This record gives sequence, structure tokens and C-alpha cells, in this order.
Amino acid sequence: MKRLLLALPGQEELAKSLAAIADLEVIDGIWHRFPDGETQVQICSDVSKADVIVLCHLHHADDKILPLFLAVATLRDLGASTVGLVAPYLAYMRQDKRFRDGEGISARYFAALISQQFDWLITVDPHLHRIHTLTEVYSIPAVALTATDAIASWIKENVSKPLVIGPDAESEQWAKKVANAAHCPYEVLSKERLGDREVRVSLPHVADYLDRTPVLVDDIISTGRTMIEAGEHLVKAGLPTPVCIAVHGVFAEGSLEEMTNAKMRVVTSNSIANICSQIDLAPLIKEGLDKLGA
Ligand code: R5P
Repeated sequence: MKRLLLALPGQEELAKSLAAIADLEVIDGIWHRFPDGETQVQICSDVSKADVIVLCHLHHADDKILPLFLAVATLRDLGASTVGLVAPYLAYMRQDKRFRDGEGISARYFAALISQQFDWLITVDPHLHRIHTLTEVYSIPAVALTATDAIASWIKENVSKPLVIGPDAESEQWAKKVANAAHCPYEVLSKERLGDREVRVSLPHVADYLDRTPVLVDDIISTGRTMIEAGEHLVKAGLPTPVCIAVHGVFAEGSLEEMTNAKMRVVTSNSIANICSQIDLAPLIKEGLDKLGA
């Protein structure tokens, strides 16, 4: 059976490294945008009877979802046997409850939409909070991989005497896994709310770590505020400026500049390719494909 990999625009580098290690043939697609804003998809290879893997991170999902669905429909129409989705960054996971009256629970609706289109899903460190596992909302086989080992390897190779730090209590389990794999200590910042606009962040056992390099780890950097505020507190406590690592570099406008202006070294995976992408997810995604038998 042919195993083909179709990458949406912007995912070409990750597609190349995944294809090389997972023995996949990369095929090309053309997404033509007409002057009226509509899209036409063209698949430039024979996909009949093939198992096709579509690679598409879902950052700015609203712009991508229709071209993605047109691609799946075209692949099926051209005779593909199966079509699976590798979405290294999965969108809409944070809208997992009705926060205000009348609001939709988008995480559920989005999952239903993806489940209707694809045969399976692989993603990396989705934001699982009130939804505990993907299978609570996805009705297709869905694998959530974690980049903790890949992050730990990067730390081992690049940081001497690291101290892994989770920026808030939610991140404890995750910081612990990274630190265990990197064979270094970890701490979690504790936040105490003193008023609407006043928060005290403290680092337990700070005196034990003054000779270490702090490495903040989180799943997402969006506005960068979580990292910047945590970094400021570490420096105040007498530690060096931290290295900041996130799986997904979402980077709201201006956030990366703000972090680099604060002299922070910023590193992310290539789930959403950006200038800080130093952690290649291809080996992890290959493990996911093997796990699913895809
Ligand atoms: C929150 O639940 C996440 O784990 C991240 O801490 C958060 O999304 C980071 O956002 P920002 O960069 O805007 O502080």
C-alpha cells in the first residue's frame, strides 16, 4: 500500500524530515485562491488506493479549515483509501466549556468536524484541561503525543546545570517529566493573588539554585506574558535570565520581540515553524504513526 504525505503550505520542512524517517512519499498540492477568495485544491499525484497523511498545524485554524476540508474531499474523490491528519498544533482546545451564558463549546464542535473528515488524528501536547483525553471529544482514533522527551534532549545538549521551572501550578506534572528526562531538578512557581491586578510569584528553595540556569517550560507561548512575568521574578530572586521553551510558538504580535528585548533565549518545537524552532518533532510524530499503524 502506498503511504503518501501531503503538507499544507508552511509545513514543508517538517514534512521533509518526517518523510525521510517514516518512509513516506511527499506529494504536492496546489491551493489556488481565486480573486473572489474561494479556494481550489489540486492534488498533483496519483492517490488512488493510497493511505494519505495530511500534515497541517492548526494555528489560525479559521483560515485553514476550509482549504483542509477541500483537500480531504479531493483526496477521497481521487480514490485515496484512508486520509489521516497530523496536526502538530491542535486548535480550539482552550474553548472547552461554556464560560458565559449562550457561548458555544467550540472544542467539541471542532472535534466533531475533524472527526467527520479524517480517519485518524495525531497531535502533540494539545491543551487538555477540562477535557482530559482527546477521545472524550474526537470519535476517530486520536493520539496525543508529548514533546517532553524532545525538550529534555534539547536541554541536555544546550544548557549546563539546568533548573526546569513550571510557570504555574498547572504545569507541574509536565515540568516534572521534562526534568526527570533531563536528569535535573525542577520547581514550580507559586502564584498568590493579592488583588485584581497584583500577583506575587515565588520560587521555593531559591537559595539552592543560584548556580543553575533556569529553564521555563510551557505548552504554549502566545502573548508571552506568562514567560515574561515568570522571568522577571526569577531575575529578582537572583537567578540569571531564563531560557524559555514552549512546545508551540503561537506568538501573538510583538510577543517574541518583547521576550528577546528582555534578553530571553526562546526555543520552541517546529509544530508551528518559526525562527525559534529548534526542536524537531518528526521522530515523535513517527512514533505516533507507528503506534496507530498508519
Ligand atoms: C495556559 O493555560 C497555557 O498553558 C499557557 O501558559 C498560556 O497559553 C501562555 O499564554 P501567554 O503566552 O499569553 O501568557
